[in-house]
Amino acid sequence: MKIALLGYGKMGHEIESAALGHGHTVVATFDIDHPASVDNLRSCGAEVVIDFSQPNAVIDNIALVASAQLPVVIGTTGWDSSLPIILAQVAQAKIGCVVGSNFSVGVNLFLEIVRTASRLLGTAGYDAYISEAHHRTKKDFPSGTALRIGDAVLSEMKSKVRISTELPAGAASPPDALLITSIRAGGITGTHTVGFESEEDSIELVHRAKNRRGFAYGAVVAAEWIVNRTGFYRFEEHITEILNDR
Ligand SMILES: NC(=O)c1ccc[n+]([C@@H]2O[C@H](COP(=O)([O-])OP(=O)(O)OC[C@H]3O[C@@H](n4cnc5c(N)ncnc54)[C@H](O)[C@@H]3O)[C@@H](O)[C@H]2O)c1
Repeated sequence: MKIALLGYGKMGHEIESAALGHGHTVVATFDIDHPASVDNLRSCGAEVVIDFSQPNAVIDNIALVASAQLPVVIGTTGWDSSLPIILAQVAQAKIGCVVGSNFSVGVNLFLEIVRTASRLLGTAGYDAYISEAHHRTKKDFPSGTALRIGDAVLSEMKSKVRISTELPAGAASPPDALLITSIRAGGITGTHTVGFESEEDSIELVHRAKNRRGFAYGAVVAAEWIVNRTGFYRFEEHITEILNDR
């Protein structure tokens, strides 16, 4: 498979290694200094595009990919408010698109564990919170993964009805808000903690990424899966199919 990379930073390089390891070729790489155009996306011979760039670049990048009529995997996070525009671009151009706030297989299994824990501990009256930590250069917060984990908790815990990323000034934190706190420090690859609190004990579930290889592997497998499909898919909703198709 011939792959073009939009964004050639930490993840772009990791994806290049994973793609080569899977027998694919990276035919073009684009970044802020070497931007893509419809012409060079077409002429490079790419069969699929993988975007790990920056949140403010995603709308323009997907417009280019749509014009070039290429399927795309979007790993960039922090553009959730632009989802309707991306959905419209994908539908109008009839291209394939897989998006994932976290392409790690382990994180997606962790989400299942969080759902089960939230159901059990919610019924038992526990309070819950989420904490996420990433390297200092990450631009968006909370992380896309923390928001997905938040959705998983809200879907199973009746006492929590909304996500909050800040504490109210001079007032108690409302019990129906699920608080997400963010840490940005050093080179942390990505750590997500879900905590459950009762008067008697504390329970913590932690996912700690050791490196970026897991994200890159998932993105390459998603690219293999989308290359001959059209439509919009979320990695977390199709992970079983995507992994079974390898
Ligand atoms: N979904 C996942 O599993 C996952 C995992 C890790 C990181 N991420 C996300 O991937 C993105 C990239 O992360 P990173 O650590 O590689 O960042 P990075 O800063 O190391 O690299 C970003 C790259 O994007 C390029 N870029 C910036 N603006 C661009 C534009 N307009 N067009 C094309 N390229 C542009 C930069 O030049 C750079 O090459 C972030 O949004 C991050 O949150 C997602």
